[in-house]
Amino acid sequence: MTSRARIWRLASPHRTAGFGQVVELPDDIPEGDSVATPNASTARLFEDGQELGPAHALHSEIKLLGEGRFSHWGRQLYLSSSDGTSAGENGRRYELLVETEGEGAARILGEASRAVSLLRTDYQRFELAERLLRLLVPNTRMSEFGRTYFEDSEFAAIYERFGEGNYRAYDRRWTVAQLARHAIAVGGAYAECGVYRGATAYLIAKQLHSYGAPHLKLHLFDSFSGLSDPSSLDGSYWRAGDMAASLDEVRANLAEWSDHIVMHPGWIPDRFVDVAGERFAFVHIDVDLSQPTYDSLSFFYERMLPGGIFLCDDYGFASCPGARLVMDQFFMGKRETIIHLPTGQGLVIASR
Ligand SMILES: C[S@@+](CC[C@H](N)C(=O)[O-])C[C@H]1O[C@@H](n2cnc3c(N)ncnc32)[C@H](O)[C@@H]1O
Repeated sequence: MTSRARIWRLASPHRTAGFGQVVELPDDIPEGDSVATPNASTARLFEDGQELGPAHALHSEIKLLGEGRFSHWGRQLYLSSSDGTSAGENGRRYELLVETEGEGAARILGEASRAVSLLRTDYQRFELAERLLRLLVPNTRMSEFGRTYFEDSEFAAIYERFGEGNYRAYDRRWTVAQLARHAIAVGGAYAECGVYRGATAYLIAKQLHSYGAPHLKLHLFDSFSGLSDPSSLDGSYWRAGDMAASLDEVRANLAEWSDHIVMHPGWIPDRFVDVAGERFAFVHIDVDLSQPTYDSLSFFYERMLPGGIFLCDDYGFASCPGARLVMDQFFMGKRETIIHLPTGQGLVIASR
C-alpha cells in the first residue's frame, strides 16, 4: 500500500426518491457499510471541495432530509446534495475520500460478516473470532467464552458513557471497580493519580456511594492539562500534553458523586501535601509516566492502611516502560509483591 487515502471523482448519480441519489462505485473503492458492520466505511464526501455529512446516514433520512447526508453502503454511495438540487444535474463536483490503508481490514470484515450467517451458535462464532485473532495477531490471546461480567448492563452503560469507541479498557475498569468495592472494608480514604475525563474516578466514587461508604472521600490528582514531560525511561509513545481534559469537563462528568470527590488540580506531587494527614485504603495510579508514578508510590506507600490497595494501570504495557521500571524498583526489598494482572494492571496489597 503506497498511500493512506485516495480521492475518487464520482460518476453522475441518479435520483432514487426525495433528496436521495445513488451512484455505483468503482471496484477499486473498498466496500462500505453493511448490516453487520454499519460503521465500517471511512469515506468522506466533498461537494465542490466542501465536506458533506453526516456519513452513515439512514437511507430514509437521506431521502427525506437531504442536506448532504450520505451513506457508503457496500459498493454504492447514497447521497444528497447540500441544497436539495440534483447531484447529477447541478454541475457540481462530487469527490469521495477513502482511506486505503484500512482496505484490507474492511474486506476481511466484509467476508467475516458473510461467514457469521453460516455459523449457528455464539460459541461457533467465538471460535471463528479466536482463530482469526490468532491469524492476525499471533502474539495475543483471546480470553474465555461466556464470561458473565459482560452481562452487567449497568457497568456497560457507564463504560460506554465515557465512550472511547472500543472495549479495550473494559476489563481494567471492571477490575478498578471490583477492587475499589473490596477496599471499603479497609476503612481509609481513596485517591486517584491521573484522572483524564474521569472514567475510573466515576466507577470508584460509585462504589463508595453504592456500597455503604457515604463518609469516604476520593481525592483526585491531575494536572488537568495532560501528561508532564516524559523522561528517557518512558520510551517514545507519549508526548507532554497527551490525555488533557479540563477541570470543568471532569467536574461535570463526576457531578453525580460530588459528595465523595475532592479535586486537587496541579502537577504531581505538588498537591499531595493537601492529604498529608490522611490514611488510605485504595490508590489508583494511572499517569503513564515514570516520575509521577514514582512520586505517587513514595507519597502514598507511607500512608496506606494494612490491606489497602495500590493499583497501577500502566504496569504491563509496552507503551509505559518507565511506570513498570519504577514500580519494580520501588517494591524491591519491600514485603509486598506486585501481582501482574492479565489486564496489564499491577496490584499491590499493603501489608504495613
Ligand atoms: C491515562 S490518563 C488517566 C485515565 C483515567 N484514570 C481513566 O481511566 O479514565 C493519564 C492522566 O495522567 C495525568 N498526568 C500525567 N502526568 C501527570 C503529572 N506529572 N501531574 C499531574 N497529572 C499528570 C494526565 O493529565 C492524564 O489525565
